[in-house]
Amino acid sequence: MIKDKSIIYNDEVYMNIVKDIIDNEMVQQMKQYRQHFNVSCFDHCLYVSYNLYLLCKKYKLDYVSAARAGLVHDLFLYDWRKRQEGRKGLHAYTHARTAYENAKKIFNLNKKEKDIILKHMWPVTLAFPKYKETFLMTYVDKYFAYSERKIAGDLKK
Ligand SMILES: [Fe+2]
Ligand SMILES: [Fe+2]
Repeated sequence: MIKDKSIIYNDEVYMNIVKDIIDNEMVQQMKQYRQHFNVSCFDHCLYVSYNLYLLCKKYKLDYVSAARAGLVHDLFLYDWRKRQEGRKGLHAYTHARTAYENAKKIFNLNKKEKDIILKHMWPVTLAFPKYKETFLMTYVDKYFAYSERKIAGDLKK
């Protein structure tokens, strides 16, 4: 799995697919929120998006939808560790829906992108992934949720 941002930003094919999303103001705001340990929401989404893109390319799947959905799969703008007035339900169960509602304001989501975002927490949330790309997403996202503990450790050195 690739966590080197210079590799990601130098991949022209990938960047052409996601450029409009990366440039979006709401997406940029994810840099202000911590996702796991010391990794921002934005970086987490970038790592997930890029590695999902590579996997889908390798298996001849829809890597364009994978890259785009991956980048917004955690598009919520709040600190999920803090209790917040008006935010109902447990973050683990609700944030995929929040990300989907935010993402669809930014760009037109196709059916696959919608499935990837809404079901990325499977099996924590029960709705079953419909596409192979979504299954790969659930794996890549969990991989990074755990490995970001290690990235955070590396940053402290
Ligand atoms: Fe998530
Ligand atoms: Fe995630």
